[in-house]
Amino acid sequence: MAEQKKTGFSSKIGLIMAAAGGAIGLGNIWKFPYIAGENGGSAFLIVYLVCVALFGLPLLMTEFLIGKRSGKSAYGAFRTLSGNNRWQWLGWLCMLTALVIMGFYFVVTGWCFSYLVEAVNDVFGGFDATAMTAHFQKIISNKPRMLLFSILPVALTGAVLWFDVNKGIERLSKILMPLLLLMMVLMAGRVLMLDGSNIGMQFFFQADFTKITPHVIMEAMGQCFFSLSIGMGALITYGAYMPKNQNVVATSIQVIVLDTLVALLAGAIIFPAVFAFGFNPAEGPELVFVVLPAVFEQMSFSWFSSVLFFALLCIAAITSTISLMEVAVAFVCEASNNKLNRHKSVLIVSAVVLVMIAVCVLVPQVFTIFDEVSACIMMPIGALGMAIFVGWNLPNPNGKGVLSPAKGAKRVMGKIYINALRWLVPAAIILIFLNSLGIL
Ligand code: PFF
Repeated sequence: MAEQKKTGFSSKIGLIMAAAGGAIGLGNIWKFPYIAGENGGSAFLIVYLVCVALFGLPLLMTEFLIGKRSGKSAYGAFRTLSGNNRWQWLGWLCMLTALVIMGFYFVVTGWCFSYLVEAVNDVFGGFDATAMTAHFQKIISNKPRMLLFSILPVALTGAVLWFDVNKGIERLSKILMPLLLLMMVLMAGRVLMLDGSNIGMQFFFQADFTKITPHVIMEAMGQCFFSLSIGMGALITYGAYMPKNQNVVATSIQVIVLDTLVALLAGAIIFPAVFAFGFNPAEGPELVFVVLPAVFEQMSFSWFSSVLFFALLCIAAITSTISLMEVAVAFVCEASNNKLNRHKSVLIVSAVVLVMIAVCVLVPQVFTIFDEVSACIMMPIGALGMAIFVGWNLPNPNGKGVLSPAKGAKRVMGKIYINALRWLVPAAIILIFLNSLGIL
């Protein structure tokens, strides 16, 4: 990406697709359905959408703004903008969050690669719900195989960053992301024709406010941060490469809409299928891996559909791991004053990530802790820090880059934005924390 720093992205749409490609990933297709399934379906969806509306726009804008104004990634950005070291901890937090997420994210990416190979070999034929669940358990309990399948995406991601081929990825995203969306629309259409699918639609879409608990609110906030990649500096990097005349508000809205659309589609595929085939919606992290193969069995061209879908899922995962690993790689380069160049940084980060992956594969409890802690604690704290940093500490935050020139409607919007950062976002995050700790 070093080259792009000088030239920016090739086009505005290129940056939107790359940022959306980074945001859309396993969080939308794997994590969203399983967390929603564990937290009451529609109750979770309502709170999730409120969180997206409340946090999404101000925080996406904030990360783009930090990157655009500093021209740096998370480590250098806070120092450059504040002129001192007091906010350096935020850069460290971003890097640590990226490492923790990578620890489990690569493992799930490994599951996707493993399922792609299985789809090619057509092994799911004739499995019922119980057999599908047993099959998943068999796959993940084969630790050497899982380790191997998790190392593969690390190598791929490392290679993309090593050879600086992000432009290629940008082009790839422009073609493959719409294809993934189209594929998901077709799957949703097929699933809706299944007997019993209406129960799943009710579970996911029929609002039931009684099921909203402090735990559901906390999980929904975490999922919102995770899915939109906010609170850990990934979007700061895109801000740094953003063409000067790109509109930050419009770009943020487009990324949010695309990301939310994919999550909603994933829910609209999984839940009707869950009820039609007799799975349990609270199955846990294996949910999509046991349900989706059953969906493909019902589709025409089932072999082709499942191979294409798992291939697209692997690519969606890799575009996300690229933006994740970039946070840590840029950190190592910037923190070492470029004494460690990009290649060395890629090697160091990959080595650390491999250790974390090994721990997650060998100790499943660590996988769960990483999954939970990164989204529900680390990312909200990072977002809180960034909101306070820009809202209270950045001189004239709206002056350059976000809603400038600050005249007319833009002036009013600018005021709303700054006040959201100063009061609304910090207050909401703190209240949700206190609420889930039972203090409120
Ligand atoms: N937003 C990604 C997803 O939904 O799969 C996960 C992610 C990618 C989080 C990159 C953070 C990040 F920096």
